[in-house]
Amino acid sequence: MAITKPDESWWKTATIYQIYPKSFCDSGSKGMGDLKGITSKLGYIKLLGVDAIWLTPVYQSPMVDNGYDISDYFEINPEFGTMKDFDVLLSEAHQLGIRIIMDIVVNHTSTQHKWFQSALGDKNSPYRDYYIWKDPVEGAEPNNWNSKFGSSAWALDEGTGQYYLHLFAKEQADLNWENPSVREEVKDVIHFWAKKGVDGFRLDVINLISKQQEFLNDENGDGRRFYTDGPRVHEYLQEISESVFQKYGSVTVGEMSSTTLEHCQQYSAQDGKELSMVFNFHHLKVDYLNGDKWTKTPFDFIQLKQIFNHWQTGLNGKGWGALFWCNHDQPRVVSRLGNDKQYRIESAKMLAASIHMMQGTPYVYQGEELGMTNPHYTDIRQYRDVESTNMYQIMVNRRGIAHQDMMAILAQKSRDNSRTPMQWNSTKNAGFTKGTPWLDLAQNYPEINAEAAIADLNSVFYFYKHLIELRKQVSVITDGRYEDLFPEHKRIFAYARQNDKQVLLCINNYYGDEAKCTLPDRFDMSKARKLLSNYQSETCEVGGQNQVLRPYETRIFLIESD
Ligand code: GLC
Repeated sequence: MAITKPDESWWKTATIYQIYPKSFCDSGSKGMGDLKGITSKLGYIKLLGVDAIWLTPVYQSPMVDNGYDISDYFEINPEFGTMKDFDVLLSEAHQLGIRIIMDIVVNHTSTQHKWFQSALGDKNSPYRDYYIWKDPVEGAEPNNWNSKFGSSAWALDEGTGQYYLHLFAKEQADLNWENPSVREEVKDVIHFWAKKGVDGFRLDVINLISKQQEFLNDENGDGRRFYTDGPRVHEYLQEISESVFQKYGSVTVGEMSSTTLEHCQQYSAQDGKELSMVFNFHHLKVDYLNGDKWTKTPFDFIQLKQIFNHWQTGLNGKGWGALFWCNHDQPRVVSRLGNDKQYRIESAKMLAASIHMMQGTPYVYQGEELGMTNPHYTDIRQYRDVESTNMYQIMVNRRGIAHQDMMAILAQKSRDNSRTPMQWNSTKNAGFTKGTPWLDLAQNYPEINAEAAIADLNSVFYFYKHLIELRKQVSVITDGRYEDLFPEHKRIFAYARQNDKQVLLCINNYYGDEAKCTLPDRFDMSKARKLLSNYQSETCEVGGQNQVLRPYETRIFLIESD
C-alpha cells in the first residue's frame, strides 16, 4: 500500500516504532548503525505492523549527545550515510505504507553550528542574538541554574567575557526564541524536511524553548521553573504550526520535560493549533527517590497507577498523549518494572499490554518488541553516554559516592541501558555489525534476538504485533474513557476502557507472586471474551468475577453490548 492522501487522524489508531540509528543496524563494519541498515530492515518493521517510524536525529553532528547536538540541519551525518540514502529510506518506507517522523532539535544547536561559531567571541556577529548570553554576576555564572546533565547551565565565552546558556551539555547552546529570526530559521528547517515528504516531527524538549527573561536565581531548585512550559511557549508553537505543520498535515509529537497536565491539554488540544500529541515522563519517575534520578530504589506501584489515572482521565476528550515505557533515554522496561530473568517473557508482555490498552498512541522503542534487557555493565569504561559519564564524575569525584554504588545506580538508570545494539540474531555481535560495536551488547543476544523471536509464535514480538492489530480492530481502545479499578491494590493494575458499546478490561499482575481481585458486578464476565493473555494454559479462561493471576499475568477482555 502506498501512502496517497494524508488522513488527519491516522495516528489515533497507529503505533509508532522508534529507531535510534546508531544502534539499529550497521550495513558495513563501522561498528555503528546507518541509514542503509535501517532500509534493509524495513521488512522486519512492516512485519511488526507499525504505521510509522520515529527516527532520532541523523543530521550532521559532532555526536557529543549522539545527534541531539546538530551542526547542520540540512545535511545527513556522513557516519549515517548520504541524503540519497535518506531519500531511498523515505521512499521505500512509503512504498510499504510506513510513515517517517523526523526528530527536530531546536531548543539548542551544537556549538559547532555555524551560527554559534560566528556568535562565539563576537558581540557584533549577526548570529550573536541567536543564543542567550549574559554578563557574569560577581565574577561568576549569571545565576545558579543547573544543566540537565549536571553542573552549571552556563559556560564562559572567553572572547567576550559573557556566558551562554546550555540546559544540556555545554556543547549544546540554547537558542534564543525571543529573536524572530531564530523562529524563521526553525520554520525553514521544518519546511525543508516536510517538503521532502516526511510525514511528521518529534520535537525535542520543546516545552523548554521559552525562558522567563529575568533569568533569576532559583532559590528552591535548579532553575527549571523559569523555563519549563515558559511564558511564550504556546505562542511559539502556534506560530510554527500555522506556518508549517498545518500546511503539510504533519503529525507532531512534543517531548515535554517536567510538564503539567494543563499545559499538555493545550499543546495537544484537538483544535490542531499546536501539536498532535505529547510525551510526558511523570510515570517514569516512580523509581526516583525523592525526585532524584541518580538513586537506586524500587518503583512506587501505587504512585504509578495514580499518575496514569491523572493523565488518562485528564487528556480524555481534551488532548492526546503518547504511550510509552521505553526510549533512548530510558532503561529497558523489562529490567526496570518487570523481571528480566525468571519472568522475562511474561513480564515483557504484561508491561506491553498494560500500556498499549490505554488511550493514546503507543511508541515501541527498537528491541522492546523482543523483550531486550539492560546490559548490566560492570565496568565504567563501558558507558558512552555524556549524561552518565558526567554524573559519574559529579557523584563519585565531587559528592563522594562510592564507585560500586554509582555503578549500581548507572546499571539501573543510565541511558546507555537502552542504547545497546539491536539484537538481530545469534551470530557474532548479534548481527548488528561486522566491525566492533560502538557500545557493548547485552550478552544475552544468543537467546534474545529478532530471528529467534520471529521463529517462535509465542514470542514477545508476536504479542506486540497482536496489540498493534487490536488497536486497529477494537474502537474502545481509541475512544473509551479510562477507569482504574483497584487504585489501592498492592499487586494488580486493572483498568476498564468504556464507550457506548464496548467495555475493555486490562488486568495485570505486576509482581512475581499470584494475585487476586474481584471485578465489580457491573462488568458481566459471563459475556466477556478474552482477547489476549500471556499464559498459554486453559486455566486463564475468562475466570468470572474472581480473577486469580499468575506471576506477571496479563488478561485483556472485551464485553460488547448486544
Ligand atoms: C531529549 C532527548 C535526549 C537529549 C536531550 C537534549 O531529552 O531525548 O536524548 O539528550 O533532549 O537534546
